[in-house]
Amino acid sequence: MSNYKRNIMITGGAGFIGSHVVRLFVNTYPDYHIINLDKLTYAGNLANLRDVEDKPNYTFVKVDICDYDAMLTLMRQHSIDGIIHLAAESHVDRSIKDPFTFARTNVMGTLSLLQAAKVYWESLPEGYDGKRFYHISTDEVYGALELTHPEGVASPISAHEVYGDSFFTEDTKYAPHSPYSASKASSDHFVRAFHDTYGMPTIVTNCSNNYGPYQFPEKLIPLFINNIRHRRPLPVYGKGENVRDWLYVEDHARAIDTIFHHGKTADTYNIGGFNEWKNIDIVKVLIKTTDRLLGNPEGSSSDLITYVTDRKGHDLRYAIDSSKLKRELGWQPSLQFEEGIERTVRWYLDNQAWMDNVTSGDYMRYYEEMYRGR
Ligand code: NAD
Ligand code: TYD
Repeated sequence: MSNYKRNIMITGGAGFIGSHVVRLFVNTYPDYHIINLDKLTYAGNLANLRDVEDKPNYTFVKVDICDYDAMLTLMRQHSIDGIIHLAAESHVDRSIKDPFTFARTNVMGTLSLLQAAKVYWESLPEGYDGKRFYHISTDEVYGALELTHPEGVASPISAHEVYGDSFFTEDTKYAPHSPYSASKASSDHFVRAFHDTYGMPTIVTNCSNNYGPYQFPEKLIPLFINNIRHRRPLPVYGKGENVRDWLYVEDHARAIDTIFHHGKTADTYNIGGFNEWKNIDIVKVLIKTTDRLLGNPEGSSSDLITYVTDRKGHDLRYAIDSSKLKRELGWQPSLQFEEGIERTVRWYLDNQAWMDNVTSGDYMRYYEEMYRGR
C-alpha cells in the first residue's frame, strides 16, 4: 500500500520531453509518487533530472518497457493508478536506417505496457475505476500536408502566418510515411483498441515538433546551435522548404498535466503551437540568435549553411489545429516563439558541459556516419 494520493508511472522520463513532464509532476504534486521508467538508451540521460532526483516523491527504475514481466511487477509493487507513456525511439533519420528498433520499442513496448496494465488493473476489486493510461504521440501519424502558400499567408485560426489551407485535426485520417511515424501510428491503434476491447480508460494526444532544453542534439534545433558554436556545417535537407509547427517543450508538459487530470477518457487531443516555420527560416533565426549571444556579428555564421541530400520520404508540412484543446480544456501555448528560441539558445550555450557529455563517445560515430556522403 502506498501513502501517496496517486502513484504515477512515467515512461521515457530521462528523455527530452519526459524529463520536463517528470520535473513538472514531481514539483507540482508532492502528494503523488512519480515512478520514472527508462532504459537509458543513447537518448536517455539522468543528468536531465539532477534537480529532482533527491525528492522524496520521485523514484527512478532503469528498465526496458518491452520487458512485460518487469512492467507487471513494477505496477503491482508501486500500486500504479496512472501511466503517462513517453518512452519511444523518436528520431526519423534513425528509423530510416533501423526500422526494427522502432517497431520493437514503439509497438511491442507499448503493447507490453498495455497488457501489464490490463492484467494488474483487472485484478483489483475496483477494476479500471480511477485509472488512466495516457499515451503520448505525434502529429507525424497524420502524414504530410500540402504547402499551398510557400511564402506564407495570414492564418484563419491564429495570429501566426501559415503555409497551407489544411491542418491536422483529431479527425484527420492516419497516413504515416516514415518507419517512425508508422510505429507511433501502430501504437496509437493498440491504445485505442485496449479501450474499445477491454474498457481500459485510455487517452491519446498527438503533438507537433517540440523544442527547448535537454533535447538530444540529433534534432534540428540543438544540433544547429551546437554546430554554430563549433563552426561546423549546418546540413539543411533539400531546399529547406519543409514546414514544421514548433511548440516550447514546457508548454507541452503543461498540456500533458491538464489532459492527464481533465481530459475525457477515450478521447484524442491535438497539441500544437500554431507556429509554422520553414526550416530555412528557423535556421536563419538560430544563426542570428546564436551569433548575437556568442558576441559575434549577427549572421556571420550564415556561411555554415550547407544544402545536403534530402531525407527519404521527407514530409513537406506539419500543422496542428489544437483549437479543441483550447476550447474544451482551456490550454494554449504560453510562449511566443522568439522568446522560446532565445531561452533555448541561451540554455544550450550556458550548458556546454551537458552538451559535451551527450555528444561524447558513440554520438560522434553516429554523427559522422549520418552525414558521410550527404
Ligand atoms: P527522446 O528520444 O528524447 O526520449 C525517449 C526516452 O525513451 C529516452 O529517455 C529513452 O532512454 C527512453 N526509451 C527508449 N526506448 C526505451 C525502452 N525500450 N524502454 C524504456 N525506455 C526507453 O524522445 P522525446 O523527444 O522526449 O519524445 C518523447 C515522446 O514524445 C515520444 O513518444 C515521441 O514519439 C513523442 N513526441 C515527441 C515530439 C518531439 O518533437 N520530440 C513531438 C511529439 C511527440
Ligand atoms: P527533426 O528535428 O529531426 O524533427 P522531425 O523530423 O520529427 O520533424 O527535423 C526537423 C526538420 O528539420 C525536418 O524537416 C528535417 C529537417 N532537418 C534538417 O534539415 N537538417 C538536419 O540536420 C536535421 C536533423 C533535420
